[in-house]
Amino acid sequence: MIVSRARLDDLDAIMDLEATGFDHAGWSRDSWAGELTASDRQVLAYRDADDRLVAVATLHLIEDFGDLLRVVVAPERRGQGIARKLLIASILMAQASGAVRILLEVEEDNAPAHAVYTRLGFSPIDRRRDYYGTGLHALVMELPIEALSYSPGSPLEVAS
Ligand SMILES: CC(C)(COP(=O)(O)OP(=O)(O)OC[C@H]1O[C@@H](n2cnc3c(N)ncnc32)[C@H](O)[C@@H]1OP(=O)(O)O)[C@@H](O)C(=O)NCCC(=O)NCCS
Repeated sequence: MIVSRARLDDLDAIMDLEATGFDHAGWSRDSWAGELTASDRQVLAYRDADDRLVAVATLHLIEDFGDLLRVVVAPERRGQGIARKLLIASILMAQASGAVRILLEVEEDNAPAHAVYTRLGFSPIDRRRDYYGTGLHALVMELPIEALSYSPGSPLEVAS
């Protein structure tokens, strides 16, 4: 496993992932190019040993919090802990940049994404009706990270 910052020349591979990830509200090439070039975005890629990009996550750093905007894993690599590893790397980088919490919106019916975020310790703090279109509601979830600690092989832990 290699986690590194995604680059502009990853755009084709990212668009291939994007095409497999979402039934609606897909992001355009311009949107992803914007993520890869904006100074306030942290875009991390997960690569296999042969350098193939198999997952990407992007996070917007705003003052003292991070807004997790997107995570997508190649369909044939799902269920292998890749999103979890990539998001832990994203969260720890955000923490090192001074963020004290991570926020995200997730479609209420997206069970896999909901499971990933819940397993990482995110909790719902709000619900936005019709956020993604009529009948497509969003949950807003939050993870406080100021006192977060992590040891490889263990869950993320927030000191009380
Ligand atoms: C959501 C998504 C990123 C998950 O990626 P993944 O690499 O398969 O997730 P992981 O293997 O890291 O799973 C992490 C945890 O979530 C759970 N989980 C993942 N997918 C699940 C599913 N379909 N059903 C139930 N639990 C699931 C895992 O069991 C695991 O829990 P564990 O730590 O107790 O073992 C992936 O399904 C995907 O790319 N979906 C399309 C894009 C998308 O919806 N992105 C999120 C919104 S931006």
